[in-house]
Amino acid sequence: GHILGIEGTAWNLSAAVFSDDRIIALHSSPYRPPSGGIHPREAAQHHAGEMKAVISEVLTNPSAIKAVAFSQGPGLGPCLRTVATAARAIAVSLGVPLIGVNHCVAHVEIGRWACGCDDPIVLYASGANTQVLGYLGTRYRIFGETLDIGLGNGLDKFARAKGMTHPGGPQIEALAREGDPIHLPYTVKGMDLAFSGIVSAAQDAQAPLEDVCAGLQETAFSMCVEVTERALAHSGKDEVLLVGGVGANGRLQEMLRTMCEERGATFHVPERRFIGDNGAMIAYTGSLMLAAGQTLPVAESAVNPGYRSDEVVVGWRDAGAD
Ligand code: ATP
Ligand code: FE2
Repeated sequence: GHILGIEGTAWNLSAAVFSDDRIIALHSSPYRPPSGGIHPREAAQHHAGEMKAVISEVLTNPSAIKAVAFSQGPGLGPCLRTVATAARAIAVSLGVPLIGVNHCVAHVEIGRWACGCDDPIVLYASGANTQVLGYLGTRYRIFGETLDIGLGNGLDKFARAKGMTHPGGPQIEALAREGDPIHLPYTVKGMDLAFSGIVSAAQDAQAPLEDVCAGLQETAFSMCVEVTERALAHSGKDEVLLVGGVGANGRLQEMLRTMCEERGATFHVPERRFIGDNGAMIAYTGSLMLAAGQTLPVAESAVNPGYRSDEVVVGWRDAGAD
């Protein structure tokens, strides 16, 4: 059956229809703030205004829809509520089940699907989140994560301080290619990471912007690679999957690929449209959850802005080794 998925936790309102192991339709309307960062209420207003157009684009055959999946969290409260309201209305009017998808788990599942990898250690690096995950028992366990801000938000904050527009990640990547990395504080605590110190130090640095951008990338990415490598070693897994918007970065991909080659592991990164936020990841994960019977009564479908990856019982995978 066809599954409709709606994503809109932050900057991208995106809907997709998934069926029989393929994406039937995918359409997005990204919100680009005129200045500054993403303001939750303004992003939610954008989503509300674009909802009809985005849904109509993918919903060409409503009678084929077997379930409606939406991102229940984590994300920005006003954005989550706007998407959930639309999802409930469509599910009720079509008389089909509702499925509440964890946004982080959806990044992982579309990555596994798109890359054909089986049981990876995942580096999930996006705006609000930076986590190293792996499947153990019946859940995605968080082996390490940021203790303060997400890597993407850190890059965007630095970029804004230097007068760049949002999002800053791609512009920092372009500048870094022309620079020689400066030294910045490297902060790994056990298996966890922290980025706000590096970002402040980068903002205060007096070196040419290209060199600061290169230093910021080399330092922050090395930290992520170190934690990913240790998770790989401790878990005995032999695949690494990179997901989340920061995963679009060519230098981060190169550093992870090198680490994997040295360890005899395989490295996987999905095609660009499945790296950052997209409706296909919600529709696809919704299809897995529907098959596992993990639907959601409307009365229990409140959004969860702090929804963590390891809260989800993964009923659609065989139990992994504990
Ligand atoms: P989440 O809710 O999962 O935290 P998100 O809402 O931040 O996700 P994503 O699309 O996963 O959305 O990630 C967006 C982030 O990715 C932004 O911070 C952006 O700067 C960053 N980004 C995009 N392209 C690049 C790049 N080439 N290099 C570095 N960062 C990038
Ligand atoms: Fe995301």
